[in-house]
Amino acid sequence: MTAVDPPWYPIRTPRLLIRDFRLEDVEDAHLYGSDPEVARYMPWGPNSPEETAAFMARSLNEQATWPRLDHGFAIQHLASERVIGAIALHLRDLEGRAVEMGYCLNRSFWRQGLVTEAARAMLAVAFETLGLRRVFATCDVRNVGAYAVMEKLGMRREGAFRQDRIVKGTPRDTYLYAILADEWTG
Ligand SMILES: CC(C)(COP(=O)(O)OP(=O)(O)OC[C@H]1O[C@@H](n2cnc3c(N)ncnc32)[C@H](O)[C@@H]1OP(=O)(O)O)[C@@H](O)C(=O)NCCC(=O)NCCS
Repeated sequence: MTAVDPPWYPIRTPRLLIRDFRLEDVEDAHLYGSDPEVARYMPWGPNSPEETAAFMARSLNEQATWPRLDHGFAIQHLASERVIGAIALHLRDLEGRAVEMGYCLNRSFWRQGLVTEAARAMLAVAFETLGLRRVFATCDVRNVGAYAVMEKLGMRREGAFRQDRIVKGTPRDTYLYAILADEWTG
């Protein structure tokens, strides 16, 4: 997937531009990354300014890495021109063409269908441009919004794992969702 040339991003949707992070996005990234509500079920955060700076450094470094396995993109809101979240594809199995997707959004923009819009565009690229076979995502079983998005995209719940990882010092239960190329209907 990473060797696809020319670049398959940025990706434009009706309301969003999905693109690489830039250094000047750091304030916008800190707005959502420091919000305890956004970070509640995430393995990271709420971020200090130093942690957001480290995130930005990792993102820029990722962009300079080849072959690039991690694609963490900024979600830029076209109307406001602000970066309002992030969406990522992490290539986990090169030979198997399986990729993990993750996302988060500034709380002021929740419940407007924006992450569904971004994630749908990512799935379209994953299956139609990159020829991937499987896209999967995981979330805390209490994170209703996270798996509501996955279900809206046609991803299927494949399993529930009990206390499979420690998040912020506490064992958590995890759902695994996935969609295969031949299930993708656009
Ligand atoms: C989870 C999250 C990404 C959802 O983003 P969003 O843009 O608000 O989601 P959408 O508006 O596209 O919603 C898609 C569906 O999920 C539902 N949904 C979204 N958030 C929900 C919530 N908190 N509770 C119940 N349903 C929710 C919506 O109602 C919608 O369904 P509908 O169209 O039938 O009404 C966002 O709340 C977020 O960033 N949370 C914090 C970070 C996070 O948890 N990321 C996921 C980690 S795996």
